Amino acid sequence: MLVLGVETSCDDTAAAVLRDGRSLLANVVSSQDHIHGLYGGVVPELASRQHIQNILPIIDASLQQAGIAVKDLGGIAVTYGPGLVGSLLVGLSVVKALAFRSRIPYVGVNHLEAHLLAIHLEHDVPFPYIALLASGGHTLLYCVKDVGAYAYLGGTRDDAAGEAYDKVAKMMGLGYPGGRIIDDLAKNGNREAIRFPRAHIKKGSYEFSFSGIKTSVWNYLKSQPKDQWKNRMADIAASFQEAVVDMLVKPTVRAATAHGVNRIVFAGGVAANSRLRETMVKKADAEGLKVYFPAPKFCTDNGAMIALAGYYWLKRGRRDDFRLNAHADLTL
Ligand code: KG4
Ligand code: ZN
Repeated sequence: MLVLGVETSCDDTAAAVLRDGRSLLANVVSSQDHIHGLYGGVVPELASRQHIQNILPIIDASLQQAGIAVKDLGGIAVTYGPGLVGSLLVGLSVVKALAFRSRIPYVGVNHLEAHLLAIHLEHDVPFPYIALLASGGHTLLYCVKDVGAYAYLGGTRDDAAGEAYDKVAKMMGLGYPGGRIIDDLAKNGNREAIRFPRAHIKKGSYEFSFSGIKTSVWNYLKSQPKDQWKNRMADIAASFQEAVVDMLVKPTVRAATAHGVNRIVFAGGVAANSRLRETMVKKADAEGLKVYFPAPKFCTDNGAMIALAGYYWLKRGRRDDFRLNAHADLTL
């Protein structure tokens, strides 16, 4: 079955074509970073306007790349939440129109579920596995038992990990989105240069907290003249990143041990982080765990993961009708 996956939940317009949940025939993403970068974060109104301009060309490009026509599709999958409601509505409305006109079944996909399952685009990972989803909007830890069976273990009490990256990058005048920029900058920095405090989390819980580290970086920057810290940008980036990685890795490994599950899967934009990957691989070796990271292009928002999650549901016989609405706060 050929499935078209469409993603417009935040600021990336993305479409992909997947055959039988296995071979990816096309994966097209149009980023709006150059627009939101001017404001240091996503401006919802601008994001939905950009989606309106981009969505049809991006769908066309994905069909062309796959060498297929709309009539060849066995189903269409589209993100219906969580996300920015204006952005979600663009993808959902276009997919509904396409499905209606061409009489193709379609399903609405939960964006979080798609991130958790993205690993299956490249790896055969048996269920169950512990999955950490760390993105710009979420930091969530699950035990994934099957498609549709997600046991929530914990999440962030305040900022998401990616949000902390983006905010710290903004404070340092580095641009948007900050994750990739800090990741690159940190490669030339000393991780031990500044000891930013790690959040204290209740023993035995799988919670995360990133607002404290954000404030610590802010206080550090304020505590000295700008020309002084400007010379230490790489050290600040590396030290901040080390603290974030530490706070992500510890509860995740603890969850795997406590649940007797030896497979850990990472998902979401922050999973593209090079230091997180390096640290986790070392830790996994030491603890006898198997760790899986999607390729960076499948960590950040993409249509392929939507097509895959949609494929699983379509295969199970799910069909959505045209009353399906966008849900900004959709949970798993
Ligand atoms: O999953 P995603 O594309 O969108 C959401 O659903 O939020 O994640 C975007 C987030 C941004 O906060 C971005 O700064 C972060 O992922 N990110 C990274 C890296 N690449 C993207 N964070 C750390 N290191 C990276 N290499
Ligand atoms: Zn996402």
